[in-house]
Order: sequence, then C-alpha cells, then structure tokens
Amino acid sequence: MNFAPKPLLDPAAKMGADGRILAAMRQAGEVGVSGAELARQLGVSRAAVWARIEELRKHGYEIGASPHQGYVLKATPDLLHADDLLSRMGRVRVIGRDIRVFGETNSTNDIVEKLARDGVSEGIAVFAESQTKGRGRLGRRWVSPDGCGLWFSVLLRPNLRPQAATQLTVISAVAVARAIERQTGLSPEIKWPNDIVFGTRKCAGILIELGAELDHIRHVVLGIGIDVNVPVECFPEEVRPIATSLQAEAGHRIDRAELAAGVLKELDAAYHRLNTGDFHEIGDEWMRRCTTLGKRVRILMGDRLIVGTAEALDEEGSLLVRSEHGRIERIVGGDVTLEKVPPQP
Ligand code: BTN
Repeated sequence: MNFAPKPLLDPAAKMGADGRILAAMRQAGEVGVSGAELARQLGVSRAAVWARIEELRKHGYEIGASPHQGYVLKATPDLLHADDLLSRMGRVRVIGRDIRVFGETNSTNDIVEKLARDGVSEGIAVFAESQTKGRGRLGRRWVSPDGCGLWFSVLLRPNLRPQAATQLTVISAVAVARAIERQTGLSPEIKWPNDIVFGTRKCAGILIELGAELDHIRHVVLGIGIDVNVPVECFPEEVRPIATSLQAEAGHRIDRAELAAGVLKELDAAYHRLNTGDFHEIGDEWMRRCTTLGKRVRILMGDRLIVGTAEALDEEGSLLVRSEHGRIERIVGGDVTLEKVPPQP
C-alpha cells in the first residue's frame, strides 16, 4: 500500500470567478474588499467584477458596496452553489477538491457511479437540491425534498479489501456527527452502522455502494443524506415517529452550505487518517458516540435473525454481537433494532 503523504490541495484551483470573489469577501470580513483588488486577483476588469457581483446578488447573495469599504458579504442565500462550497473548503487532501451541484436529479449516487465508470479521480462530491429517486440502505426509499436537506455523494478509490468497507461507514458516521456538533452545538449519536440519531430519532444516513472485485475495491460511492431543515410533514407518515431534522433539534434553521463544507472537511481528515493506518482513533470515537454498544439488539440479515448484546467493533468496522447462545457473531450489514429492555421492578 502506498502511504506517501498526499499534498494539500487548494479547491480554489477548481473555482470560478464567483467562488474567488466570495472567498475574498469572506476573508476580508466587515473590512470589505475593493473592486480594484478583486479585479487584480481575478485578472479581469472592474466592470467584469461588478457584473459578477450583480449576478451573485440575483442569486440572493447580499453584498454591500461602499466607496470606502468596497464589497462586503452580508448574507448568503439558502442554496447550494458549487463555487460557494469550494470557497469554504480551505485546503483539503482528497475529498471536496471538486464539487458539482445539481438542481433535481434521480440519485446523486447514480451520478457518481457514472463518474466512477468514466474514470474520474477520487474526491469529487456531487450534491443535489432534490432527488426524485433517493435510496437508502436495504432497498428503502430516501425522501429528499427540495432545498431543505443535504443529499450528496462522494467518489472514493480506497486501497481496501471489500471486507473492510465497513470502515468507510464508520469514518463517515464520525465525520457527519462531528460536523453537526461543531456547527450546531448538538451532540448526535451513532446507531450501528450508519444512522446519525438523537435518542431514537434519525436525522442522517449513509449509503455505501461498492464497485469491487473479490479481493479489492475499484471504487466506492459514499452517499450521505442529512435532514437539515426538512419540515416534519415531508417525512413519510411511517417514519415520522423515528425521524427528526437538525432544525427541529436545534430550534432554528441551520446553514446548509456551511454544514456541507464542514462535513466534507471532516470526511477528508478522517479519510486521510484511515489511509495512513490511523483507523483506531476514529473507531474509538465511533464507540464513544455509539448508542448500540452494550445494548440488546435484534439483527435481521437476509432471513437470519440474531438476538444478542452488541459488544464491540472489530478492526474492520464490523459489529461484534454476543448471541443468546454465547457465541460472538461478526455483523457486517443488516437491519439492527435496539431491543426494549423491560423496566426493572
Ligand atoms: C440510509 O440511512 O438508509 C442511507 C440513506 C442515504 C441517502 C443518501 S442521499 C444522497 C445519496 N443518494 C441516494 O440516493 N442516497 C444517498
């Protein structure tokens, strides 16, 4: 395996003029940045800068302008804009060095699968404002309404055996939980293998799809869905009692673009640690956040039911369950239900 350190890349390389203008305004803060300075940085005329500023305003960016201060970014709209996301990324190693945003699509996992087959290099992230055929694990539907969640997929080409792919679920769950915590101050937990939950309610899920040979992974499509500001009435009736959004938990709307960039940055850092043999640290954090460990669980794998106690995670990210017969069962997939323990008399 080649562990040569990857250089930190600047997503600015992929950014268009909008991203560079937004990045410069963000960096300048309330001090503002002059049209002349922006024109110099972009290598264009001041009139061209002004035209881009007008275009950004049309998209809902509030940009103040004064002869003394220049341009000041006052507020951003609640939409996903590839250049804007790139401008928030800072330097990354792999994940988020290229970002695409679609309005409506079937499933971002399908788009990334196609990019993978076309030979695109790993790290690209594809977002959609809405998905018409969003899918979850075990063939379930993933409702992805317009403009209120984060529905995105990332292309990875890890140097892992297919059996170790669960490690990717583990690092992704930790990265999503961390980014939510950092931005909202909330403390999300993880339900094995891939649900981000608050108590018994789920706010995010992860779907990993592999292109693999028997002994190695060709590519991975890592799909993440986060119910950020999704109104309760958008959830299908049957999941309402077990679903929640970050807005419902925090009591206020959450900035989706900021969270999107936050998750990609955490993912990039976690993926680097996995690639440099540092899975244990993330595994430990996963265990601290995991609501499944120590609990009585029922796991349905195909038509096999395993009932027992979730004891630990192994080095490949599988769940180790002590069955009712005292045997340790290694679980790599399936549907986990936490058993209700009867109240103590
Ligand atoms: C689950 O918990 O069942 C996994 C849900 C994964 C949903 C995301 S949304 C973006 C990507 N595209 C899809 O069709 N699914 C994943």
